[in-house]
Amino acid sequence: MFIGIDLGTSGVKALLVDSNGKTVGSADATYEGTNPAPGWSEQNPTAWITGVSKALLSLKKNHSKEYNALKGLAISGHMHGAVLVDMHGNVLRDCILWNDTRSHKEAMVLDATPRVRDLSGNIVFPGFTAPKLSWVAIHEPEIFARVAKVMLPKDYVLWWLTGQFTTEMSDAAGTAWLNVEKRIWSDFLLEAGNMSIDQMPDLLEGTDIVGPLQPDRSDLGFPAGVLVIAGGADNAVAACGVGALGEGDGFVSLGTSGVVLAGRDSYAPSAESAIHTFCHAVPGRWYQMGVVLAATDSLNWLSQLTGKSPSELSGSLDDSLGPVCPSKFYPYLSGERTPHNDAQVRAGFTGLDIATGSQELAQSVMEGVSFAMRDSLEALRSTGAKLETALAIGGGSQSDRWTRILATTLNIPLERPEAGTFGAALGAARIAICGVLGVKPENVMIKPKIKDTIEPDQNFTAEYDNAYRGFAAAYKTLKVMP
Ligand code: XUL
Repeated sequence: MFIGIDLGTSGVKALLVDSNGKTVGSADATYEGTNPAPGWSEQNPTAWITGVSKALLSLKKNHSKEYNALKGLAISGHMHGAVLVDMHGNVLRDCILWNDTRSHKEAMVLDATPRVRDLSGNIVFPGFTAPKLSWVAIHEPEIFARVAKVMLPKDYVLWWLTGQFTTEMSDAAGTAWLNVEKRIWSDFLLEAGNMSIDQMPDLLEGTDIVGPLQPDRSDLGFPAGVLVIAGGADNAVAACGVGALGEGDGFVSLGTSGVVLAGRDSYAPSAESAIHTFCHAVPGRWYQMGVVLAATDSLNWLSQLTGKSPSELSGSLDDSLGPVCPSKFYPYLSGERTPHNDAQVRAGFTGLDIATGSQELAQSVMEGVSFAMRDSLEALRSTGAKLETALAIGGGSQSDRWTRILATTLNIPLERPEAGTFGAALGAARIAICGVLGVKPENVMIKPKIKDTIEPDQNFTAEYDNAYRGFAAAYKTLKVMP
């Protein structure tokens, strides 16, 4: 038996599977974050420990026989967060999360430093770890002086489980301190960020063994000999959960934020396109993704304004596709990552008419988010990534209408998995299986069963393509709006 833990921003899910990856049971726990100032987003790492313990003990209670046969576990974690600890692992301040934008100035400075993009393979986005440490150095120097180790969120939980200070390539890639091509900490990048190598955890591959549990963790009631495997960053691990490892494999995710992800067999960065190029959670591979900051978040926002639920807004429309909506939505409610790398730009509607109603607004929101996803696909393609088809996952993909709009906008078929378990918790369990049993990732990280394939509607692909070009051109105008 194996456990995959998905440490998310608002909660944790623990999934118990057998050695074939078949689900035995799962348990969840939620936690909150804080927003101490506009643009700030923090979480107390103790909340993760409480959540993980709760989820594990609930699995033990409900599946005691299988839990007693546990061989290993791995964790998927939200990326980029800075957990600052002293030599004994004492946390020095709350974790500054991936969606915290306070360090945008420090990010700009690092990003403009020669060689930084070349070595890290990425723009230094404000959410990344390195600029957060620059911010702490300026604003909280007494804390900065005491930082013995900087850990990523899931690695703090690994430390609590094993007593080891480690991380692995996929999460390390989101710090802006890693040489993403060579898969080693970069002395140059560390120096640019005023950090030193001894503040970095030991680097592993995602499927490597971190170690056994430390004696203090006997409270979790695991059988003897359980191994903790390094795991990975949430998108990399989700890719493991749907079998997106190499060339041609990928997914589009309509979640709170939108992701267009492609597995890569080699390192082909394109920082200027605002594509993220990160190490995969399995050895010898990378992945690239474009990120749309407000995907289902955009429909949720409209839902709050109109008092209609997101499924009412997306589901009440006829499933067949019609012409592109006359009103247009630009989904930059929280700025945008790919392709604009613009934390300041804000969203807009155009083409509103006295007769425009909430259904039409919903349609234009789904189209606008789909156009933004197309921006990410174009940026991905500029790196040489080939996505002729993709899996569609995330809450928004449950809407037939939205998935069809997206397939037509991207002009690729989108495959929707059967209901059941996939994604980051399964990906983490699969990593644990590979790590403990030494099996090849390709043999374990296979695609889920497909429920249906949504084809682009060829009657409308040309019209959607045209509308996409208008969408892409409008950014410049939006940018100069107050
Ligand atoms: C990736 C990113 C998010 C977080 C939170 O760059 O910021 O995917 O990992 O899920």
